[in-house]
Amino acid sequence: MKALRVLFIASELNPLAKVGGLADVIGALPKALKKQGVDVRIMIPKYSMIDPKQYPMQRIARRIPVRLYNRTYLVNVFTTKLPGTSITVYLIDQKDFFADGGVYYSKTALVGTFKEIERFLFFGRAALESLPHLGWKPDILHCNDWHTAFIPVWLKTIYCCHHPFYASLRTLYTIHNLANQGIGDLKLLKVANVSTRALPSLERDARNNDIDLMVQGILTSDAINTVSPTYVKEILTPEYGERLDPVLKLRQRDLYGILNGIDTDVFNPSTDVHIRQRYSVKSFEQKQINKAALQQMCGFHVDPRVPVFGMVSRLTHQKGFDLLIKLRKELIKLPMQLVILGTGDATIEKALVALSKRSSRTMCIFLKFDAKLAQMIYAGSDFFLMPSRFEPCGLGQMIAMRYGTPPVVRSTGGLADTVRHLKTGVVFHDYAAKALLAALHTAIRIYHNPHVYTALAKAGMRQDLSWGSSAQVYMRLYRKLLASHS
Ligand code: GLC
Repeated sequence: MKALRVLFIASELNPLAKVGGLADVIGALPKALKKQGVDVRIMIPKYSMIDPKQYPMQRIARRIPVRLYNRTYLVNVFTTKLPGTSITVYLIDQKDFFADGGVYYSKTALVGTFKEIERFLFFGRAALESLPHLGWKPDILHCNDWHTAFIPVWLKTIYCCHHPFYASLRTLYTIHNLANQGIGDLKLLKVANVSTRALPSLERDARNNDIDLMVQGILTSDAINTVSPTYVKEILTPEYGERLDPVLKLRQRDLYGILNGIDTDVFNPSTDVHIRQRYSVKSFEQKQINKAALQQMCGFHVDPRVPVFGMVSRLTHQKGFDLLIKLRKELIKLPMQLVILGTGDATIEKALVALSKRSSRTMCIFLKFDAKLAQMIYAGSDFFLMPSRFEPCGLGQMIAMRYGTPPVVRSTGGLADTVRHLKTGVVFHDYAAKALLAALHTAIRIYHNPHVYTALAKAGMRQDLSWGSSAQVYMRLYRKLLASHS
């Protein structure tokens, strides 16, 4: 069989440009596909934060004209390799859009202001224009989240009908997070050089006087998937559908739920260079050394009898911090320590800082993203806390299990699919402070029964959390897309 050729197009890629879980997926799933024989490549913007010394680059195409609204910009394409692999990464270079720093203009604005949306519209258009200049033609364009959601719209309007090169391309659109949609006023259509009459999806979307890129991705891609089987069911309901459940229902036949994995080479307690003491299931007791180091670093009492709860998270509405903040009085009294790493919404940051100041001997917060510190928390904590309001998949709970750190999670989305109550972690149901508190009590009780606790931790470590089987599901889906249109 001919090798499948797949181009991932995304706004983030670990380790070159990371904000959240999207970057982890784009940095790991292609590796698993490659292992199974897929000719896979990745395309992202050439943000100025990507250091060419760290990631040596080569220019492969220059001065490609790309139209946006009434201007033509010139684009260069660079390539580099995904570190440690032979996977080609294409970088779209255009100073007007990608020269000023980070991945997104604002810290957590995955949602998108007009300027941000315009910027990613440009990226999508430039991706399409650059395809004939790569010397390699993909079969599938695998688009991710709203940033790349307009690509199938252009394919169906401007490109496919006039250029034979584009006619055979198929699109898969992955929703990593339905809450972030990329919504802007109708001027965006002018920016994108399409009119509402060009497609029924645009006409429908424009009725309320705005354009929602997520809606366009859903309605115009050949297939859509999200990142866990439970989340795919949840988003078809008004409770989790973020107002798009009716739109998603229109595409229900082409909508799939494929569970994310984690990069088990990167996340491996027996080879991790960032942690104090490496360990495996067999040497599980050595994990204690990491716990003591973490307690010390946080300024906690170094005491093996007190369970440490860790959180590594974007500090957003999604992640359930309001429950934690509601429990502030109870938390102080609980015989536990809590360490949090992450950045995000200013109000959440402020509330957590206030909390940690009041109880600095048992609560510690690091307001940053730091990959090394994250590993120390995964390895040094006794439990990993994820009380999410909703969770498309969640990677933290899987990384934690790989490190023998049982997760305490709310049963939603991918958390419901990956953590089993009292088998690999502690699961609670209601999105309520009371339910979280009860789960914390359960975890503390388990911790004081070393036999039960160790069994839970080791069961988590023994699971296959790699991308292997999900990569095969993606491959079947790619093949299905190609077969159904040829
Ligand atoms: C987003 C989601 C998270 C998911 C990740 C990768 O960050 O919030 O649940 O694991 O994307 O798909």
